[in-house]
This record gives sequence, structure tokens and C-alpha cells, in this order.
Amino acid sequence: MAQNLSFFASSILLVAAMTSFIHGCHALSSDYYAKLCPHVESVVTAVVKKAMTNDRTVPAALLRMNFHDCFIRGCDGSVLLNSTKNNTAEKDGPPNISLHAFYVIDLAKEALEDICPGVVSCADVLALAAREAVTLSGGPTWVVPLGRKDGRISRASDTRQLPAPTFNFTQLKLSFARRRLSTADLVALSGGHTLGFSHCSSFQNRIHSFNGSHDVDPSLNPSFAVSLRQSCPAHNKVRSAGATMDSTTTTFDNAYFKLLLQGKSLFSSDQALLTHPGSKQLVEKFAGSPEAFGKAFAKSMIRMSSIPGTGVEVRRDCRVVR
Ligand code: HEM
Ligand SMILES: *[C@@H]1O[C@H](CO)[C@@H](O)[C@H](O)[C@H]1NC(C)=O
Ligand SMILES: *[C@@H]1O[C@H](CO)[C@@H](O)[C@H](O)[C@H]1NC(C)=O
Ligand SMILES: *[C@@H]1O[C@H](CO)[C@@H](O)[C@H](O)[C@H]1NC(C)=O
Ligand SMILES: *[C@@H]1O[C@H](CO)[C@@H](O)[C@H](O)[C@H]1NC(C)=O
Ligand SMILES: *[C@@H]1O[C@H](CO)[C@@H](O)[C@H](O)[C@H]1NC(C)=O
Repeated sequence: MAQNLSFFASSILLVAAMTSFIHGCHALSSDYYAKLCPHVESVVTAVVKKAMTNDRTVPAALLRMNFHDCFIRGCDGSVLLNSTKNNTAEKDGPPNISLHAFYVIDLAKEALEDICPGVVSCADVLALAAREAVTLSGGPTWVVPLGRKDGRISRASDTRQLPAPTFNFTQLKLSFARRRLSTADLVALSGGHTLGFSHCSSFQNRIHSFNGSHDVDPSLNPSFAVSLRQSCPAHNKVRSAGATMDSTTTTFDNAYFKLLLQGKSLFSSDQALLTHPGSKQLVEKFAGSPEAFGKAFAKSMIRMSSIPGTGVEVRRDCRVVR
């Protein structure tokens, strides 16, 4: 009997260990705000829903913002901080191109400060907003582990640590492995490129002066390359010019993977997923099954949004340290 009990107890512990993610010295948990701020999720959902009906580019922006936050200093809301007189923040660093919709996080945070002041971290608001962005765009849903703390450091120079769109498979794998993310995470999370828009500069390398023998990356579908070159001529002067990430830019679906197999992805880093047998197999699986993609994406988002940060506080205004 005693043996049975302890077996039961250790099973519970195991389940607890599997459902809570170690985050700095705190474990994240899905019910972190159950008593502290029970309506946190519905508040964030309502704000994201309203914002995206006014501006269809909001979901893509929130998802990419969460990725940038988590890949630099862990998920600590550092991407949300404004620059100050002394400091140029992440959001003003070079790969900030197209980071936008910070106002949505501000609106959610303001609504939360009204009902539970000083309780919900900006990093948690961002993780919830990114999940909502995906779900409300037709993608999967998942339970977001909560209890992150906000960091006080945000440096433009740290954005060099983000993977670049010119990366090859080895470089991508290393960038993800540094954050304890696997090849499966890399492929699933690259599927985030089912939403949104890219500027010409991010895929310029593939469509002009690719290498010594090819002006255009030969792995690009030829007619797709022609259309990209029309939107983005060699000496493009239209700063807003670019292309949608896939054919269904406001719908979270598996079109990105189908197009990738046809040579119709934008970045070298997307194409690179086909250069390794294991990751190519996953691309094929996700191209064939939106359900398999949705399930894998949700699982990998939980892992990405659990990258430990060094946050120490709960900010009142997500743009300023306390
Ligand atoms: C694997 C490494 C990755 C690279 C190299 C990469 C690179 C980029 C680049 C260069 C852009 C376009 C920026 C511009 O020109 O405007 C972009 C857009 C985007 N990325 Fe990624 N990304 C990666 C992973 C991710 C991940 C993990 C996510 C989220 C799960 C994500 C979500 C997005 C979204 C949603 C956009 C569109 C943003 C918008 O329309 O506002 N990316 N990415
Ligand atoms: C942060 O920066 C934005 C954009 O420059 C500005 O509109 C906003 O007022 C700033 N907020 C704070 C609190 O400094
Ligand atoms: C900015 O610099 C001033 C003067 O050197 C210093 O007093 C202040 O604490 C600094 N602020 C931050 C946020 O580092
Ligand atoms: C991106 O950084 C540039 C400077 O590098 C800055 O002028 C611009 O405002 C930033 N964009 C956003 C959306 O923060
Ligand atoms: C990937 O890029 C790195 C850095 O440019 C380079 O050293 C390496 O040889 C490349 N790997 C492959 C397999 O092309
Ligand atoms: C250019 O890239 C293609 C495709 O990756 C490759 O076959 C070719 O050898 C490269 N040429 C040079 C000069 O590097």
C-alpha cells in the first residue's frame, strides 16, 4: 500500500515536472495567475481580437515579436523596451525591420493594470498574445506556461544573435541548439512563416548576384523568382517593397511547407530546411498534414516560449524598466 502511494506520488511529481518549465529559478506553470489575475487570458484575447480586425498584419507581428524576445536573453520582454538616452534597445537594432504592433501589447497591459495592477509580466502578455495571434488566424491553440519575469536589459547589439535569413542549415541548427531547441523545433517554428510579410532586403541575396555562376538562386522556382525580381529590382528604392511570406498571409495553415517544396519560399534559411534529410522529411510531413504541423508547432512554441530569461520584475509600462 505504502509502495503504491509513493508510486502514485512520484507519478504526480513526474507529471508536474513535465508540465512546468524551469525558467531561471522559477518554474513556469499554466495556472500561475489562477488566483493572482484569473481573467488574464480573456483580457489578452479580447485585445488581440480587436486589434487584428482593425489591422490584419497584427498576428504576424505578434508572433515574430515573441520569437525575437525569446531568442535574445530568453523570454523576458526585452524586445518591448524603448531606447533611452543612454541605451539603444533591441527594437532599434538592425534586424528590427517589420517589428511592429507594440501598441497591442501596451493595450493588453493597460487593461490588465486596471484589473490586477503590477501582477502580470510583459513577457507573459507577449507569450499569450502570440498564442492568440496564431489561434485567431486559424492555427492551433495551446496552454501557455506562465510566470515569466521582465528583464531590465535590452541592447541593440544583441540582435546580432538572431538567426539571419541567409543562414544555412548548420548555422540554423546551431542557433536553435544554443537555446536547447531541436531540429524538429527548427522546422516546426519556421512554419511561423505562414503569416506575414518580408521586405526585399531579407531575400535580396537569392534574386540578384546570388553567386559567381548564378544571378538567381537555382533552387528558387523560376517563375516565382521572376515575380520576386519584379517586386524587388536590383536597386530597389521603395523601402516598403517586398513579398508575402506565403500565399495565405493572414491564415495560419501549412501552405508555407507546400510552397517550400516547390521552391517558393523567400529566404535561404527556409530553403535550407530541404538540405538535410531529417528536416526535409519533416517539411514533407507538414506539407501533407496541417494537423501534424499544428500539433508540432504548438509543442515547439511551448518550448520556445519557455527559454529561460533573467527577468527580475513585473513592469507597469512594457516600454520602461521600473
Ligand atoms: C529560423 C530562423 C528564422 C529566420 C532566419 C527568420 C527570418 C525572418 C525575416 C528575415 C523576416 C522578414 C523581416 C522583414 O524583412 O520584414 C521574418 C519574418 C517573420 N518571421 Fe521569421 N525567421 C526565423 C524564425 C522565425 C520563427 C521561429 C518565427 C515564429 C515562430 C518567425 C515568425 C516570423 C513572422 C510571423 C514573420 C512576418 C512578420 C511580419 O509580417 O510582421 N520567424 N523572419
Ligand atoms: C516609446 O517609443 C515610442 C516610439 O518611439 C513612443 O511613441 C512612446 O511614447 C515611447 N514610450 C515611452 C514610455 O517612452
Ligand atoms: C544614464 O546615464 C546617466 C548619466 O550617466 C545615469 O545617471 C543613469 O543612471 C543612466 N540611466 C540608465 C538607465 O542607465
Ligand atoms: C528600427 O531601427 C531603426 C534604427 O536602426 C529605427 O530608426 C527604427 O525606428 C526602428 N524601427 C522600429 C519599428 O522600432
Ligand atoms: C554554412 O555557413 C558557414 C558560415 O558561412 C560555413 O562555414 C559552412 O561551411 C556552411 N555549411 C554548409 C554545409 O554549407
Ligand atoms: C552557385 O550555387 C549553385 C547552387 O547552390 C552551385 O551549384 C554553384 O556551384 C555555385 N557557384 C559558385 C561559383 O559558387
